[in-house]
Amino acid sequence: MEVSRNGKETLDAESARAKAGMMVKKINDELRNMGVDPAAPQETRTEEERRQAQEKAFKAMLEESGIPDRFFHATLTGWVPEGPEEAKVKSRLYSWMCQIGKLGCPSFALQGTYGTGKTHLGCGILLDRFKANQDGLYTTAMGYTTKIKESYRKDSPEPGSTILERHAAAGLLVLDEIGRQFESEAEKLYLFDLMNERYNKKKPTLFLTNLSVTEFKAFIGDAITDRIREGGGTILELNWPSRRT
Ligand SMILES: Nc1ncnc2c1ncn2[C@@H]1O[C@H](COP(=O)(O)OP(=O)(O)O)[C@@H](O)[C@H]1O
Ligand SMILES: [Mg+2]
Repeated sequence: MEVSRNGKETLDAESARAKAGMMVKKINDELRNMGVDPAAPQETRTEEERRQAQEKAFKAMLEESGIPDRFFHATLTGWVPEGPEEAKVKSRLYSWMCQIGKLGCPSFALQGTYGTGKTHLGCGILLDRFKANQDGLYTTAMGYTTKIKESYRKDSPEPGSTILERHAAAGLLVLDEIGRQFESEAEKLYLFDLMNERYNKKKPTLFLTNLSVTEFKAFIGDAITDRIREGGGTILELNWPSRRT
């Protein structure tokens, strides 16, 4: 009796081991089919997968971002300021950038004449965010209103409501060339619709403008000016000469 019970137990254990072995083989075959080496050390594989996923997310955000190609190299964190004025701007912008995504983060504005680096710095912030897997969009005011206008065409690939929603929901919106003359009242309304949506959603916007501070405040109005002031935001003036050669 005992021998036969022991004998049965031995047989059960052996068949369980055989079944487990078959399952491991099946899983390894499936991993190989997916292009994953099952013999690779676990740590390396997850690290590599994480890097690939990050790279994929960065490319997708960059493609969707609206950032012009000539600013793809821009960065705020990698900027080496020359002199105290640039160092002050970098430090103010960097502190603000670190607040984005937190509750109550204000909007911000960069004011300066042509060539002072407003677009470069705005795109630099977006690119630094993408590297940290944080989203954002870039558009000029006119680029945005043109997109909305074109969305009314029958063959438009994206309806106006989706364009508005996408720009209103972005973690950061860099809105460039604020204050350029609009062709119609409707275009101004499209832009204000977007600014108000972001204001209501408490999403921060970085405004870039060539207008004087007084003209800029008059253009965006009291509510949005307040949204910049709330929580320590500011209109930062870039007072150095043009970098364009
Ligand atoms: N911090 C910076 N580091 C390197 N290049 C810069 C920097 N700021 C501006 N530039 C370069 O100077 C030129 C003018 O900057 P841009 O952002 O177009 O000015 P703005 O938008 O104020 O008219 C661009 O070629 C830009 O890449
Ligand atoms: Mg510019």
